[in-house]
Amino acid sequence: MSKKSGSKEKSKGTLALTRLVSTDPEPQFLGDPAEFQARFDAARSEAVHAMLHKIPAPRRSPPVLALEDVIGPEDVVKIRGCGRIVFHAVGDTGKGKHSSQTDIVDLMRADYDPSRPPTDQPAFLLHLGDVVYGTNKEDLYRDQFYRPNNKYPGRILGVPGNHDGEINENTDPKSLAAFRHNFVAKKPKRRAAAGSSLRPAMTQPGVYFLLEAPFVRVIGLYTNAADEAGFLSAEEIGFAQKDFLIDQLKLIAGKRADGDTAALLIATHHPPYSASDHPGSKEMLDDFDDAFRQTGVAPDLFLSGHAHNYQRFTRSFTLGNRTMEIPFIVAGGGGHGASPIQLREDGQLVKTPLRGADGDHSLQQYYNGYGYLLVKATAEELNVEFYSSPPTRSGPTDSVTVDLEAHKIVRETGPLDHPLEGEVERHGKHKHHHGGN
Ligand SMILES: [Fe+2]
Repeated sequence: MSKKSGSKEKSKGTLALTRLVSTDPEPQFLGDPAEFQARFDAARSEAVHAMLHKIPAPRRSPPVLALEDVIGPEDVVKIRGCGRIVFHAVGDTGKGKHSSQTDIVDLMRADYDPSRPPTDQPAFLLHLGDVVYGTNKEDLYRDQFYRPNNKYPGRILGVPGNHDGEINENTDPKSLAAFRHNFVAKKPKRRAAAGSSLRPAMTQPGVYFLLEAPFVRVIGLYTNAADEAGFLSAEEIGFAQKDFLIDQLKLIAGKRADGDTAALLIATHHPPYSASDHPGSKEMLDDFDDAFRQTGVAPDLFLSGHAHNYQRFTRSFTLGNRTMEIPFIVAGGGGHGASPIQLREDGQLVKTPLRGADGDHSLQQYYNGYGYLLVKATAEELNVEFYSSPPTRSGPTDSVTVDLEAHKIVRETGPLDHPLEGEVERHGKHKHHHGGN
């Protein structure tokens, strides 16, 4: 589908960038199918910590921005008037023209169909990290970000992934330099790498930030440059990011006590839970849980990437006297080489739902292929839809809805049937590529 489109069509300055439009992997087995979090032994942990870098300080403190700063006040008024915000989210996109990446861009673009009612118009794309893969990252932005997204009409915010933060001695000596130029710019100027694209640099206040939007707050955090696991804080990277998270959660607790009903989404590149070759991060989740327990506020939704597939977990999280059901979703199938989740020891595909080791979470759904998320928030509900690429059905492949007052999942798609050969092979077009996640 739409392989002919891609970057050849000229952009004629019609993109309204600030508007709401009126591998063949080695076989991987789950030692225990219900282990979704990586626990490191000391030796391995040392190697992982050696990959970590100090997090750059935000441009302003606290690093909070309003959606008005991104898409303009008029469109935010429209969204508020609609009673609902809709936006895209996906990670691990960097691939290039005429690829699984641009297939997804084409699908997301179609969601901006002006004939749809305003309540269905996406407001922006939240990138879940690993924007570009390889060396000379600033140059890579041309072919892995600006050109593939040339026809994506919305603005793009994001959290950096390990590939955005990694250091390559000769070409990328400074961690996150290219990401900061393109996402954390002082001014919305066009970068040289943008070429003929009209997309200006994004003006996030930091590599971690809080976005205030109607019906939803997004806290995006940088979980650093190690491949094996994410970290919110550590000696090597500092504690300012975690302090920021705690401060913001405290503020949210106060606002909620005053009747504020905005949903809270936390987005990181590394997943807390994953059944994939790139596993979840126990240390990172423990660090988050500490912040949630200290403040009495936990997110209504946790999104991440890194594993190049789709996985939806439900976690039961008890905070004070209430137990919340929280979707933890991996949406790393943005185009850079799909990678399936692990098979059972008997070589069979995992069947969902599959309960996690400590019983408070379970894998509810997965999809071994590409796709993106459409998140919808109202004052009452938060809904996340997963659309596979190529589409396998009309409408979403998976969907989950959270009641924001009850903190319970009120609707979700039942377990999908999975062909043994995997969704990716079935479509044939995009074989597995086992690159770094
Ligand atoms: Fe990654």
